[in-house]
Amino acid sequence: MFQSDLLKDKVILVTGGGTGLGRAMGERFLELGARLAITSRRQEVLEQAAAEMRERLQLSVDRVFATTCDVRDADAVHAMLDAVTAHFGRIDVLVNNAAGNFISPTERLSHRAFDSVLGIVLHGTVYCSLELGKRWIAAGQPGTMLNIVTTYATTGSGYVVPSAVAKAGVVALTRSLAAEWGKYGIRQVALAPGPFPTEGAWSRLLPTKELAEGILQRIPLGRVGERPELANLAAFLVSDFAGYINGDVVTIDGGEWIYGAGQFNILDAVTAEQWDILREMTKRGK
Ligand code: HXC
Ligand code: NAP
Repeated sequence: MFQSDLLKDKVILVTGGGTGLGRAMGERFLELGARLAITSRRQEVLEQAAAEMRERLQLSVDRVFATTCDVRDADAVHAMLDAVTAHFGRIDVLVNNAAGNFISPTERLSHRAFDSVLGIVLHGTVYCSLELGKRWIAAGQPGTMLNIVTTYATTGSGYVVPSAVAKAGVVALTRSLAAEWGKYGIRQVALAPGPFPTEGAWSRLLPTKELAEGILQRIPLGRVGERPELANLAAFLVSDFAGYINGDVVTIDGGEWIYGAGQFNILDAVTAEQWDILREMTKRGK
């Protein structure tokens, strides 16, 4: 789909880049010529991911840099940015992908459960974007920030309320910094995926067969997303070809949120015979 040098020499930092969608995006960025830094809390997960990426793509050791960081800790974020900059000399793109989430009735949650998810998703994103943005502005360096959100960041959703609140904050951050930091050549984009199977998300959000299969009925295209679809979109959004996109939220969900929002979409369940009867009934209104 892309020229193999689309992201040549761009230094891209992906938080939560050792697993799931973060890893899929990182691998695609590498295929397209980028230099990649991945960070998260678990060192062994990061190191294994980095080793597998180097092996599969036949890369030199220094093309992928893995360093631990809990993004809820602002000092740790500063140290992580120092380490990535020391390794690659600079950072061109930040992908705020790290997240925490699980399903629960809200009234069952403690304030610590809210703190945990808000800490990873909202504060973690703010700490990374704020510190890197300050460094870019001081150095007069342009850059791109891609924030991974969800479709319910704008619609809201029950049973994932800490995540919905936090992701909505990230959308507000995306739009606000797009307005404020565009003058420094710093671009903001958000990507809102629908369901893409990953161990991290499925184990916490769709832990039973019934829940996992149930979501298919809500997706007009009748299937979940595939990682290359998301990774290719992310590659385009962080590339120079998307250089005029600033402050937008790009949705990739097979039409899921639109389907949930449409008042009459429930009529999918009406059979052809029932439509014959309904046609006669509705014509009577003429
Ligand atoms: C109720 C829960 C809970 C659960 C944790 N808590 N899990 N409450 N139901 N399933 C409560 C705990 O009891 C505790 O409160 C508080 O939350 C903090 O829990 P810890 O285990 O101490 O938190 P921590 O070790 O920091 O782990 C964070 C985490 C965990 C978010 C809870 O799941 C995690 O590490 N997640 C990272 C990966 C992840 O979530 N990936 C999915 C992203 S998917 P008390 O009061 O007991 O102290 C995604 C997709 C969205 O975002 C859209 C999909 C379609
Ligand atoms: P995932 O594999 O669980 O990814 C979450 C990542 O965040 C993990 O690598 C985790 O690594 C890291 N992380 C969690 N807490 C952290 C912290 N405090 N500091 C640093 N890193 C932390 O799930 P995923 O499905 O790939 O999700 C990736 C992104 O896509 C998230 O932003 C999610 O909200 C979004 N999304 C996913 C879906 C979907 O269907 N999968 C849909 C919509 C949006 P450690 O545990 O090692 O820290």
